[in-house]
Amino acid sequence: PVQAGDIGAICRRYGSRPDALIEILHDVQAALGHVPPDLLPAIAAELNLSRAEVFGTFSFYHDFHDRPPAARVLQLCRAEACQSVGCEDLARHAEARLGTVAGVELRTVYCLGNCALGPAAMLDGRLHGRLTPQRLDALLDLPAG
Ligand code: FES
Repeated sequence: PVQAGDIGAICRRYGSRPDALIEILHDVQAALGHVPPDLLPAIAAELNLSRAEVFGTFSFYHDFHDRPPAARVLQLCRAEACQSVGCEDLARHAEARLGTVAGVELRTVYCLGNCALGPAAMLDGRLHGRLTPQRLDALLDLPAG
């Protein structure tokens, strides 16, 4: 795995240019699956940026994750068309159920392009429509509740 000492090599691929910060963060994430926050000071030092600048960029982009990805990712649509068919109830249900199981990360998204079949969600990259709390539990292999 990438260590603080490897950060220099990654940065030098980009000539340690401050404007390459986003590419560098992407490279670290590609190598590790996330960007450990304790590597950010080394990146700042290598690029001659302040820690606040590096942390600000890192936290601004939602594509960067500060911890390893969960084994499963449930993306629940909460945009308008899905709202009109009950996605908020589904979101409350998902939050309550997933609070009790490890290894599933719940993310809110705004439109999955499946508006006619809402409420819609993507589980591990597969699209599902017309979800109900019961169907969601079944998809996640949760006992009915
Ligand atoms: Fe939910 Fe488009 S609004 S899929």
